[in-house]
Amino acid sequence: MIILETERLILRHLMPSDLDDLWALYTDPEITKFIPDAPRTRQEAQAELEWHMHGHPKNPQLGLWATIHKATNKFIGRCGLLPWTIDGANEIEIAYTIARAYWGQGLATEAAHAIRDYGFVKLNLTRLICLIDSENIASQRVAEKIGLSFDKASRDEYGPFLVYAIERELR
Ligand SMILES: CC(C)(COP(=O)(O)OP(=O)(O)OC[C@H]1O[C@@H](n2cnc3c(N)ncnc32)[C@H](O)[C@@H]1OP(=O)(O)O)[C@@H](O)C(=O)NCCC(=O)NCCS
Repeated sequence: MIILETERLILRHLMPSDLDDLWALYTDPEITKFIPDAPRTRQEAQAELEWHMHGHPKNPQLGLWATIHKATNKFIGRCGLLPWTIDGANEIEIAYTIARAYWGQGLATEAAHAIRDYGFVKLNLTRLICLIDSENIASQRVAEKIGLSFDKASRDEYGPFLVYAIERELR
């Protein structure tokens, strides 16, 4: 199922045939460097895929979505909305990962921007966050470019991270 479309991208539910492409993402150490809970084996990637295939099992409107490059029809990443409990609060994260060959073209920003609008307009969410390693400058830039700003520092079982946040403007 297609979730949303941008000028250059289609975001849709993951499908079993995405496994090779999804696992290829996670075999790149430049990708997993700042994703502490990234799948470490093909089996874990398959479990992630199955978990998200029909949306997030606990909230099907959320989830990681296959990110397809329209010009090449290639799977180039997984982006979406993920639920977390951070410091006791329920939060929704805008998640984005793009294959290295496609970095630096504004594609993460394009996906994240559309996901932000989808969360606020379609899902009526009031606050969205990004969870970012303090050394992940590219991800901090993406968050800032779509209007998030530094909210606080936090940590979980994987270690410390920064929380960037944006509240929906209520009219
Ligand atoms: C973070 C990531 C998604 C960015 O993807 P991208 O498509 O290259 O991002 P964009 O092209 O939209 O660039 C966004 C901004 O970040 C900047 N940027 C990109 N890579 C950068 C880097 N290595 N260092 C500093 N800035 C960087 C770009 O210049 C751009 O800012 P600008 O418009 O002011 O120049 C990509 O690097 C990635 O997948 N990384 C690994 C996974 C990851 O860390 N995911 C996020 C977890 S929180």
